[in-house]
Amino acid sequence: MPYVITQSCCNDASCTAACPVDCIHPRIDDDAFTSAESLYIDPEACIDCGACVEQCPVDAIVADDDLPSGQQRYLDISAAYFSARPVPLGARPRPLPRPAVDLTGVRVAVVGTGPAGMYAVWELLEHRGVEVELYDRALTPYGLIRSGVAPDHPATKAVMATFERAARKPNVAMHFGVEVGTHVSHDELLAHHSAVIYATGAAQDRGSGVPGAQLRGVHSATEFVGWYNGDPARADAMFDLSGERAAVIGNGNVAIDVARILLTDPHTLATTDIADHALAALRHSNIREVVLMGRRGPAQAAYTNPELMALLDMPDVDVVVDPAEAILDELTRDDLACANAEPAMRLKAQLAQEISARPSTGADKRIVLRYLSSPVRFGGDNAVSTVHVARSSLARADDGTLRAQVGAEIEALDASLVLQSVGYRGAAIAGVPFDDANAVIPNQAGRVLTSAEGTAVPRTYVTGWIKRGPSGVIGTNKRCARETVACLLDDVANGLVPPAPERAALLALLDDRRPDRFGYAGWSRIDVAERLAGRGSGRPRIKFTDADHLRRAAAP
Ligand SMILES: Cc1cc2nc3c(=O)[nH]c(=O)nc-3n(C[C@H](O)[C@H](O)[C@H](O)COP(=O)(O)OP(=O)(O)OC[C@H]3O[C@@H](n4cnc5c(N)ncnc54)[C@H](O)[C@@H]3O)c2cc1C
Ligand SMILES: NC(=O)c1ccc[n+]([C@@H]2O[C@H](COP(=O)([O-])OP(=O)(O)OC[C@H]3O[C@@H](n4cnc5c(N)ncnc54)[C@H](OP(=O)(O)O)[C@@H]3O)[C@@H](O)[C@H]2O)c1
Ligand code: SF4
Ligand code: SF4
Repeated sequence: MPYVITQSCCNDASCTAACPVDCIHPRIDDDAFTSAESLYIDPEACIDCGACVEQCPVDAIVADDDLPSGQQRYLDISAAYFSARPVPLGARPRPLPRPAVDLTGVRVAVVGTGPAGMYAVWELLEHRGVEVELYDRALTPYGLIRSGVAPDHPATKAVMATFERAARKPNVAMHFGVEVGTHVSHDELLAHHSAVIYATGAAQDRGSGVPGAQLRGVHSATEFVGWYNGDPARADAMFDLSGERAAVIGNGNVAIDVARILLTDPHTLATTDIADHALAALRHSNIREVVLMGRRGPAQAAYTNPELMALLDMPDVDVVVDPAEAILDELTRDDLACANAEPAMRLKAQLAQEISARPSTGADKRIVLRYLSSPVRFGGDNAVSTVHVARSSLARADDGTLRAQVGAEIEALDASLVLQSVGYRGAAIAGVPFDDANAVIPNQAGRVLTSAEGTAVPRTYVTGWIKRGPSGVIGTNKRCARETVACLLDDVANGLVPPAPERAALLALLDDRRPDRFGYAGWSRIDVAERLAGRGSGRPRIKFTDADHLRRAAAP
């Protein structure tokens, strides 16, 4: 009865240390960790002790005989992973525990309370004496856990409990409503802290460059996600849900999320923490079909297999693939024939073929997965009415990957709503170097550099999406933060990080600039009030989506 890791795994690696036979892989220090779709349990090595189960913050680990019928496939997925990457038992020693460093007198500013910032805090808390000041421009913590993760994925949001434990430590202080670069400058932070770690994420939309994006009805998925998740900055957005078809450009996991939210039964959404305004609008939605446009083939789709498989479990929604688009081109077949082909890529190709062969259930709603389909223009008078689509082909780039080459236009697809889900983009912070081409803070392993080729900026570090770009799941940021904090610790050891001055001067500065900021106690009051508001209607919480409302709830 081996245990199996299932859909909600967010790669935070909390389970690996608990395993007495080291059969959960890849480990956080393996190169494969950063790109892994999830972690996997070796079914041959697992001794069924169950020790990993209670370590998992998102309840992703299940005994194989408790797997629901729709999730049996996770057994094959684990087996395929270990057959491609056999791990001889006992072949690799466990990494040595990292030595504790005395950080007495060291005060670190962490800018951003998303997963990257919070994992950096946990890394710092491993060492005695450290003081941490966390800053967030938002009035609520945890970044995309609150404003990105889909409302129908409550298990994933449970990772917040891990971050709450860090936030409650007596040597950690939080400051909400403080935007670094606007309310306080980088130089001011440096003057009051020993070091600064930027973990500001990538909140902007990358943009596809497709002509016609200015038409009414064309939006970024970033805007739509913020709207349904109750981001106060997006609360007033309006989406035309009166038509029957929506097109989503891109097929990453965000595209999958928005397609699911558009078609989920509002009665189901009403049991989640979706923003009230979004729930009200979706109750009147006429959208019956969502078309996801991937510009490459099924094997190169940007979504992960667990997210696609969860889509197939949606009640009353058919998932459709045109059999012609599930056929693999020659270059992809070559890639998959390689002995070292990624099992996840093989599974993507296989799932698309299986879906293309499934008969329609006659459901009223459909998600259509398109491949090798590139949008070339959005058409319409004032408002969008069509997406002009070209067939793409795949060509091998210098780095060996297969990229889309746009061919001739093949069709004009009617759609009254277009969501461009083509990825996020980091933003510059005044006074901090920025690599505009890659939309990241230039760095080497987390040490901020003056430019991509430049020298280290003293006492300044970066982690998360603003360090490496907008990819990776929640747990990917744990390894990323570990690397960054290791640089900071090296600099402490080399005498490059001085003790911080008196905290009173910092608090005086913050009182002057942001007298209405609040800390963890204020967030706790918001948290309790939102949960209480949801209790009567059986919802986990009702999010407050207006800045004044949040400030009132935070007040003692
Ligand atoms: C729509 C969406 C859904 C996702 N769903 C999942 C999922 O289900 N499972 C999963 O494992 N991963 C998911 N991810 C990926 C995961 O959310 C990211 O890997 C992770 O949030 C990145 O962490 P971060 O800390 O770098 O950025 P963020 O989470 O964006 O946090 C950045 C923080 O910095 C703050 N900030 C920004 N600028 C400033 C400033 N100048 N001053 C002060 N504060 C500032 C922001 O307010 C924010 O709180 C999802 C991503 C998206 C976009
Ligand atoms: N449940 C979850 O675990 C979850 C949920 C949401 C997000 N996330 C994670 O968050 C990260 C970001 O996700 P994401 O979906 O925003 O980004 P993503 O995975 O990078 O996907 C972006 C998509 O947009 C396409 N694209 C980019 N530019 C385009 C253009 N000009 N024209 C047409 N298509 C274009 C890409 O195609 P190409 O592939 O051809 O470039 C790809 O399909 C990912 O690591 C994701 O796994 C995880
Ligand atoms: S059940 Fe025990 S042996 Fe199996 S993966 Fe979990 S911790 Fe390891
Ligand atoms: S979420 Fe974390 S603890 Fe749970 S299975 Fe995935 S890596 Fe392990």
